[in-house]
Amino acid sequence: MIYLLLQSMIGNEIKTARDLLLQNEVVAIPTETVYGLAGNALSEIAVSKIFEAKNRPHFDPLIVHVGKISDVELYVEEIPELAFNLMEQFWPGALTVLLPKKSCIPDLTTSGLKEVGIRIPNHPITLELLNSLSFPLAAPSANPFGYISPTSAQHVEDQLGEKIPYILNGGYCSVGIESTVLRVQDNEIEVLRLGGISLESLHRFTPSIRIEEHSTSSPASPGMLTSHYAPKKPVYVGNIRELMTSFSSQKIGILSFKEDYGVFGQRILSTSGNFTEAASHFFAYLRELDSLEIDVILAEFLPDENLGRAINDKLKRASAK
Ligand code: TXA
Ligand code: MG
Repeated sequence: MIYLLLQSMIGNEIKTARDLLLQNEVVAIPTETVYGLAGNALSEIAVSKIFEAKNRPHFDPLIVHVGKISDVELYVEEIPELAFNLMEQFWPGALTVLLPKKSCIPDLTTSGLKEVGIRIPNHPITLELLNSLSFPLAAPSANPFGYISPTSAQHVEDQLGEKIPYILNGGYCSVGIESTVLRVQDNEIEVLRLGGISLESLHRFTPSIRIEEHSTSSPASPGMLTSHYAPKKPVYVGNIRELMTSFSSQKIGILSFKEDYGVFGQRILSTSGNFTEAASHFFAYLRELDSLEIDVILAEFLPDENLGRAINDKLKRASAK
């Protein structure tokens, strides 16, 4: 009985999720990138509950999710042409665009910033949910602040299960890493967070792409905090064979790109070296390794291209002290 009371519900009832959201509650929702912890983006009560459940600092703004492109103009002052072209090309999908917000979006949602990050997620259940509501959903990744992002309903349950009433189950996230966050200025794209849409695919729209440098103190996008996505076990990134020698006296786990190191606690992101497959496994494997009886996680960088670049960025943050 007590066991039952402590469980938050995992289910696939869109109506249950909707009813809770209408009451200013928070609900975990599936997206193609990672699971989000959603609440009414226009409600300070709901947004406060999101920050509280995640233990998230209030300086870190939330992404606002909408169900269709025509909704965007309800929440932003203007949409530059390049931004609109990107939205048309990549939505629904792993792209978040920063745009000047209208005053109906509370300052709490954007942490006092004048821009709001907006995206249409590509998941049928969540699209149906969004299109059944008269408000957009603020949703950060559904993990405690600083920890690994969840790519299944069970991941959410494991960490936030006692803090939220409902987890809408949409299976495993197909992309597996978060959205790319960017803003446009004139004909330039400024990327604040590398993610599921690669720089290569953005390059088709403009030759000038700038990547915001990391910062720990006053991050332009707090997903850029140096230490983030961190498992509890220490992570070392480098040449795995050399690391294996250095850590020979300890119990090691390995996260490799495609090579088999013949070790028990090992996860191979993609034996065929496919970046998309590697991204879809990345967070889940990091979590699995973190739960093994090992002392350290040894990992290697992927080639710095395509989604490999975004994964490398996360590896750097996961290993930062
Ligand atoms: O794929 C995703 O983006 C997932 C799913 C649930 O949509 N969401 C997600 O949210 O990753 P979160 O909160 O974990 O990361 C959002 C990132 C943070 O780095 C945040 O600082 C940045 O986007 N961000 C959001 N709004 C912003 C704003 N107005 N200005 C600058 N950065 C912003
Ligand atoms: Mg996050």
